[in-house]
Amino acid sequence: MKSHYYLITLALALTFCPGLQAQTTIRIKDSEANGQIIPKEIYGQFSEHLGSCIYGGLWVGKDSPIPNKDGYRLDVFNALKELQVPVMRWPGGCFADDYHWMDGIGPVKDRAKISNNNWGGTLEDNSFGTHEFLNLCEMLGCEPYISGNVGSGTPEELAKWVEYMTSSSHSTVAEMRRANGREEPWKVKFLGIGNEAWGCGGNMTPEYYSNLFRRYTTYTRDYNGNRLYKIASGASDTDYNWTEVCMKNIGTQMDAIAVHYYTAMTWSGSKGSATNFTDQEYYRALGRAVAIEPCIQKHIEIMDKYDPQSRVDLLVDEWGTWWDVEPGTDPGHLFQQNTMRDAIVASVSLDIFHKYTRRIKMANIAQVVNVLQSMILTKGDQMVLTPTYHVFEMYKVHQGAEFLPVEYATTQIATSDKGPVPSLSVTASRKDGVVNVDITNPDLKNGQTLLLTWDNLGKVKKGDVSARILTADKINDYNDFGKKAKVAPESFKDFKVTDEGIEIKAPAMSIIAIAIK
Ligand code: AHR
Repeated sequence: MKSHYYLITLALALTFCPGLQAQTTIRIKDSEANGQIIPKEIYGQFSEHLGSCIYGGLWVGKDSPIPNKDGYRLDVFNALKELQVPVMRWPGGCFADDYHWMDGIGPVKDRAKISNNNWGGTLEDNSFGTHEFLNLCEMLGCEPYISGNVGSGTPEELAKWVEYMTSSSHSTVAEMRRANGREEPWKVKFLGIGNEAWGCGGNMTPEYYSNLFRRYTTYTRDYNGNRLYKIASGASDTDYNWTEVCMKNIGTQMDAIAVHYYTAMTWSGSKGSATNFTDQEYYRALGRAVAIEPCIQKHIEIMDKYDPQSRVDLLVDEWGTWWDVEPGTDPGHLFQQNTMRDAIVASVSLDIFHKYTRRIKMANIAQVVNVLQSMILTKGDQMVLTPTYHVFEMYKVHQGAEFLPVEYATTQIATSDKGPVPSLSVTASRKDGVVNVDITNPDLKNGQTLLLTWDNLGKVKKGDVSARILTADKINDYNDFGKKAKVAPESFKDFKVTDEGIEIKAPAMSIIAIAIK
C-alpha cells in the first residue's frame, strides 16, 4: 500500500516538474538478516555432450595444437577457474538418458563410437568420459553432479557407475577403475536420477517416474563415507502437477527435485535471433525471465504442503536463454551468441534465486561453453568471454555469503504476453565484513538516480566503497572473436557517499556491482 502511494506521488512529481530527476531509495534491511546463506551452488554450471560444449570447448585432447593441459583446453580452464565454479552437471541433459558410462572408460582407442541422437546425430567417440570429467572437477575445485541414465539404462547400470566412481573396496567394478588409472575413489555427492523424465528422458508420467525414482534410489548406494544427494527429475517450468505427484509419491526419499526453466520465446518455430532483436523483443524476453519468480513460488508452495520442514530442496538445474542458433551453424548444436540482453537476464535471474534460498539450493545455467547461454564461446583456437560470464564473475562474491533482504519501489517499464518487466532489480549479501550489492537497471532509455541506504551498517566513508559496471552502447552488443570486447566490466565512479547513504547514477541497461567495506 505504502509503495503504491509512493509511486503515485512519484508519477505526479515527474509530470508537473519535468526537470526533476526522480530518486529511488534502496534500503538494505541488514537488521532483518537471519543468517540465510546463499549456497555457492546457485552459481552452478551445466556441461553436456552437445555441439562443441565438450569437444572443442572444455576438451581438445592431448594431441591438439590448441594449448591444453592433459587434453583440457587451457584458455577455457583458466577462465572457469577465475569464476570459482562450485558445481558442474554432466553428461546431460537429454544426452544423459542415452549415455552408457562403460562406453567412456578404458583406453580411448577402444571406446565405443555412438551417434549422439539428441543433438544432430554427431559422432560421439567417448574420448571424454568419467575419468576426464571427474578429474576436471577436481582440477577446477568444483563438485561433480552426475546425471544418471534412467530413460534407457537400468538400475544395475547406474548402481555400478556409482560403485565405480566412489567405492574403495576390491570389487570387480572398483578394480576396473584402478586398472583405468585411478586408485582412490572420487567424491561424488550430487546424483541425478534421470533428466526431463517427462520428455527426452523417457516420456513418462509423474506417477510412473516416481516409482522408478524409488526403485533406482534403492540400488544407488553410499560407499565408504560418500553420501549421495539424490536429485529427482522435476517439472518443466509451470508443470505444477509434476511437483505435486513427486512430492506426494517420493517425498523425502529424494534430497531434491530439479525444475527446468528456459527464457525461450516459443517451443515451436523460431525462438528469435540472439543478436538481432527489437526493444519490444528485449522486454518480452525479460518478461519471460522474471516470470520464473511466480513459477518458483508456486513450486515452493506445493513443496511446503508436503514437506513443511524443507527437507527436500528445489534446484533449477537448467535455466537461461534459448535463441535460434547462429546462422550457418548446425541447428542441433545450439550455438548462440550472447549480448547485453543475456547479461541482464542472468543478473535478474540470480537476484530472484537469492531470494528463495530457503528452498533453492542449486541452479545450473545452460550451458558452460558453446551451448545456449554460455559463459564462454570458442572458435578454433580463439575464445571469447560472454557478457553472461562477466555477470557470473561480478556476482561470485555472493557465493556462500549471508543474504541481506532489500526493499525498493519499482514500476513496470514494459509488459508483454510473457509478463511485466520491473524497472529495477537489486540483491545484496555480506561476507567477511564486506557488503556486496548488485543493481540492474534494465531500462533501455532511462538512467536512474538511486539512494542506497542501510539499517545498521553504520557510517561509510568514500574509500570504503568500490564499484564496477557492466553496460554496453547497444543492448545487442556482444563480444566477437578477434575483436575488442564490447561488453566487459569497468570501474564505476558515478556515485557519491553522503550522510544519507550512497547516491548512485545508474545508466540505462546496466549492472552495477558495489562493494562496501
Ligand atoms: O540444455 C539443452 C537441453 O535442454 C537439455 O539437454 C535438456 O535437458 C533440455 O531440454
